[in-house]
Amino acid sequence: MPNKASPVLFSGMQPTGDLHIGNYLGALKTWTAIQYDYRPIYCVVDYHAITVYQEPKALQEKIEEMAALYIAAGIDPEHSTIFVQSTIPQHVELAWVFSCVTPVGWLSRMTQFKTKTEQQESVGTGLFVYPALMAADILLYQAGVVPVGDDQTQHLELTRDIAGRFNSLYGETFVVPKTELPSVGARIMGLDDPTQKMSKSAPGSNHSISLLDSPSRIKKLIGRAVTDTKPAVDFNDLGEGVANLITIYQACSGADNEETREVFSGVQYGVLKKAVTEALVEKLEPLQKKFRDLTADRDVVRGILRHGTERAAPIAEKTMQAVRQKVGLYMHR
Ligand code: TYM
Repeated sequence: MPNKASPVLFSGMQPTGDLHIGNYLGALKTWTAIQYDYRPIYCVVDYHAITVYQEPKALQEKIEEMAALYIAAGIDPEHSTIFVQSTIPQHVELAWVFSCVTPVGWLSRMTQFKTKTEQQESVGTGLFVYPALMAADILLYQAGVVPVGDDQTQHLELTRDIAGRFNSLYGETFVVPKTELPSVGARIMGLDDPTQKMSKSAPGSNHSISLLDSPSRIKKLIGRAVTDTKPAVDFNDLGEGVANLITIYQACSGADNEETREVFSGVQYGVLKKAVTEALVEKLEPLQKKFRDLTADRDVVRGILRHGTERAAPIAEKTMQAVRQKVGLYMHR
């Protein structure tokens, strides 16, 4: 069991759209696996979500559902703190301070910002300063480790740079966190186009599998997944689509490389797809059942979120007091 000396773990997800298997295999699964080695804090990042317009009522629903999914996936609310970002205003307060010490050039280099701006006609300033808010989320709790998927590594590098810059300008204040990537599944690709990462915003109904998809839908989607022109699995020359299916299989089943090669070398894609479907369904069915129970009566989740804010808020305020003092912001005396 972790004690007060265990490092803090922090991570979060945006309550937009449905969580897909990329979110699960890239992040959520690691969160549950390593939670007992740390003092974990899991956040539902609604301030990040509104960098792109969200229908207000739907957003509130999604926030609770996201928390329910964390718990359904195996986050233990007794041990792990689960809370909603906007219930602790120190996140935006620290994000402002960070946006003052972060050069525009650092933010302009962020590839997610570049891709997202290409997809939209008009872009809010929030999307640009988004990584400063993400740095605030993490550094507010002095987190030492941040488990995420591969697409967040650049934001994590920036978080380290911001911590370093603040520390050198104002004196040692922040822990510089490490990124924790899963060994398998850090980047799950789209089923319809395995050259693109699986994403909530990608168009196309054959692109991703939601954590709440039924077994028959999962079967259909895996059945339609792009493979390649070769007749069977060839580990010496795996096409991107086939490699992605094998990654999904390994991440769900826990099978190592040797085992996986033994099972699938030379087999037809139909056999591989059946095994991937079964492995996914086996992983997702218990999660879906727990999710249905948790959302049937939302009071449990609401209570957990309230408790989470109560646990996290004093830590955030302690850091902010130090920051206000170091920066020279006015304090009544
Ligand atoms: P978000 O909500 O886009 O994604 C949540 C998590 O899912 C991972 N992920 C993937 N992993 C593997 N394959 C994929 N195709 C895939 N797509 C998404 C992401 O890497 C992420 O870990 N900015 C963050 C949210 C955030 C955050 C934070 C994370 C805000 N503050 C502080 C960590 C710490 C985001 O938009 O994740």
